Amino acid sequence: MKIGVISDLHFDRDTKRTFDDYVKVLSAEVSRRDVTLLLVAGDMSNDYELSYRFIVALKHQLNMDVLFVPGNHDYWQSEDELNTLAVHDYFKQLPECLIERPYIINDQWAVVGHSGWYNYSYADTRFDEAKLAAGKFKGSTWQDKLYIDWKAPDKIVSRAFAETVRRDIEQMGDRHIILMTHMVTDKKFTVPLPHRIFDFYNAYIGTSDFDDIYNKYAVKYSIMGHVHFRKTLVERGITYICACLGYTRQWRSDDLQQEVANALYVIEI
Ligand SMILES: [Fe+2]
Repeated sequence: MKIGVISDLHFDRDTKRTFDDYVKVLSAEVSRRDVTLLLVAGDMSNDYELSYRFIVALKHQLNMDVLFVPGNHDYWQSEDELNTLAVHDYFKQLPECLIERPYIINDQWAVVGHSGWYNYSYADTRFDEAKLAAGKFKGSTWQDKLYIDWKAPDKIVSRAFAETVRRDIEQMGDRHIILMTHMVTDKKFTVPLPHRIFDFYNAYIGTSDFDDIYNKYAVKYSIMGHVHFRKTLVERGITYICACLGYTRQWRSDDLQQEVANALYVIEI
């Protein structure tokens, strides 16, 4: 069985192409590679309803299951309507959303997923907690601080989300786990330090709260998004996959089809 993985499409940020272009091009590539299940690791757009419409459109076009976890951008709202907990509840009730709804493939395999959240553990130690909580550095602000409000500190959110994943995995018995998060759950996928600004901004890339999950459970694949890398790494029997399409300015070409073909990763189980 072939499972397609992609992340961080950010189709609404592309001024040249439409929603339908993205549905068409991604669906064609998924079909071409004989994929029968598609996983999307978040950051479809900056609008939760639009992001979900995209998942539904893919599902209809492909006539297969398409599962996703929301990324931080999918939670974004303007200041006057900011209610992140309500958006989270919206996502949780969707049948294609993996949060608190693991997907059993067969007796051997299951997909468990969550947005995950950052806990500042990847930031340089010279920044204190208050500075990281404020998210301001060298004249700019980490945008989640403006458009997301969990009503709780990031560290508490990260811990709670990781515990939800642990509970989901425990329900899966002896199955091998394909774990999908939007946030990075392994330090090797952060921006290498020292870096002019990412010494600070790595705080908002990932979390250490999954370390224990990797040690204890049969995670075979770990899918992540958020950092806009396209990178795979195998370590201690776990294949870590970051299959981000990213912003058009980060592409190597101006060709959506080529970039999608390059970003889409296919797992064979
Ligand atoms: Fe992203």
